[in-house]
Amino acid sequence: MAVPFVEDWDLVQTLGEGAYGEVQLAVNRHTEEAVAVKIVDMKRAADCPENIKKEICINKMLNHANIVKFYGHRREGTIQYLFLEYCSGGELFDRIEPDVGMPEQEAQKFFHQLMAGVEYLHSIGITHRDIKPENLLLDERDVLKISDFGLATVYRHQGRERLLNKMCGTLPYVAPELIKRREFHAEPVDIWSCGIVLTAMLAGELPWDKPNESCQEYCDWKERKLFLTPWKKIDSVPLALLNKILTDIPATRITIADIKKDRWYTKAFKKGVKRARASSGGTSESSSAFSKHIRSDMDLSPVSSAHSPYKSEERVRFSSSQPEPLTSLSSWDSNHSGIDKLVQGISFSQPACPDHMLLNSQLLGTPGSSQNPWQRLVKRLTRFFTKLDAIHSYNSLKDACEKMGYIWKRSCTNQVTVSTTDRRNNKLIFKVNLVEMDDKILVDFRLSKGDGLEFKRHFLKIKGKLQDIVSSQKTPVPTV
Ligand code: ADE
Repeated sequence: MAVPFVEDWDLVQTLGEGAYGEVQLAVNRHTEEAVAVKIVDMKRAADCPENIKKEICINKMLNHANIVKFYGHRREGTIQYLFLEYCSGGELFDRIEPDVGMPEQEAQKFFHQLMAGVEYLHSIGITHRDIKPENLLLDERDVLKISDFGLATVYRHQGRERLLNKMCGTLPYVAPELIKRREFHAEPVDIWSCGIVLTAMLAGELPWDKPNESCQEYCDWKERKLFLTPWKKIDSVPLALLNKILTDIPATRITIADIKKDRWYTKAFKKGVKRARASSGGTSESSSAFSKHIRSDMDLSPVSSAHSPYKSEERVRFSSSQPEPLTSLSSWDSNHSGIDKLVQGISFSQPACPDHMLLNSQLLGTPGSSQNPWQRLVKRLTRFFTKLDAIHSYNSLKDACEKMGYIWKRSCTNQVTVSTTDRRNNKLIFKVNLVEMDDKILVDFRLSKGDGLEFKRHFLKIKGKLQDIVSSQKTPVPTV
C-alpha cells in the first residue's frame, strides 16, 4: 500500500565528513523516517568510481543485525548517493571515557555484537579492513552496527581464499603482519583490530601508535610488561583474552570460534550490576584525556585503482554497467515505501548549508523559532548550551578560540570552521554550529577532518575555557 506524502525528504544535517565526501541525515517530512545518505562525488579522485562501485557491490551482499543496512544507491551525474540505515546512537567511540573506558559488562555486550558482525562478514568472504570505534555505530537501542565498507574487500570466493597485500586501515588498529609481511591472511587482521577496540573499551586508551619495533609501547607489550598502562587497568580475565588476540604471529592468533569459548567472552555478569568506576562511565564530559590515542587516518598506501585487489576477471563480476541501475535491497521490506522512493530518485530538498536548518531567529534575524524537530534525531556529546544570547555566545567562542591559537573562519551565518594541528602535528578541523533551541544557544561541535579522540580533547579544552558561559542544562538526546 502506498503511503501518502512519502516523497518529501529533507537533508537536515551533516553526520560525518571524510575524504570521500560526506554523510547527511535525510528525514521524511511526513513520516519522520530517518536515513543516512553517503554522498560521494566521483570527480574527487581518479580511482573513486571504482572504489565506490566496490563499496556498493559489497554493501549489496550484506544482511546482518550488526551491520549498517544498505537500502540502495542512486547516481546523478558524478554524484553517488548511498542510502544507509541511520544509527541515532552515534559512534561507539563516544561511549568510551578517555583514560577510563566503559564498564566491563557493557564492553562485553558490544564485543559480542562486534564478533557477531565480523563472523558474519568472514562467513561470506568479506574483510572490513578498517575496524575501529569510529566505524562502529549504535542504533537507538544501542545495538552495535559495523559501518563504512569503503576499504572492504572479498578475500574468499567460491571457497578459495586469496592472501591480501594492500596496506590499508588505521595505524593504531592494524596488525603487525600488515606492516612486516608482503602478503597476509585477511581474517587475523580484522581480529587484531577488534582486540585494539576491546582495549580501548576497557582502558580508554589505545596501546600504541603502530605495532612495530620502533614503538616502545608495542615492544613493552611483546615483553608482556603488564604492570604498564593500559594493561594494568584491565582485569586479568579480559586481559587473558587480549593476550590471545594481540598475538604477533597471525597463525597462532586466536580465531573467532575460539574467542567465543573464551572465559571472559562467556562470563555471565550479574544482571543490572555494572562495575563501579572512578568516574561517570563514559562520555565526553570527562576532562581527562586519552594518553595514547591517536589514529593516523591516512591510508597506509595510496588508494589507487590498484586498490581493488580483484584480478581483471573478478573485477568484471563486481563492476556494474553504466548507467547505474536503480537498486534496493531485496531483503529490505516493502513497508518502507518512503525509502524506496528516495532510492528510486525522488529528490530531496537540500539547503545550501544544511546545518542552517537548525539555526535560528536571533542569528538569522527572524523571530519565533523554537526547537527544530530534526534536532531531536541527532545525538552528539560534543556540545553545550550557553547562558548568553547568540551574538554574545559567538563572540565569547571566537575570543576563546583565537586566544587558544585556533584558526577561525566563518563558514556561513551560524557556522564556523576551526582549524589547528593535533599533538602529532596532524591537521584537525572541526565545525561549530550555533543553534537556538528553546531560547537558548546550543554550541554544537562536529569533526570535519582528523583524529576523533584529539577532537574530543580540543572540545573539552574549549569548553573548559568557556566555563563561565556554559549552562548546566543538559543537551538534547534523541527521542527516536
Ligand atoms: N555517520 C556515518 N554513517 C552514519 C549512519 N549510518 N548513521 C548515523 N551516523 C552516521
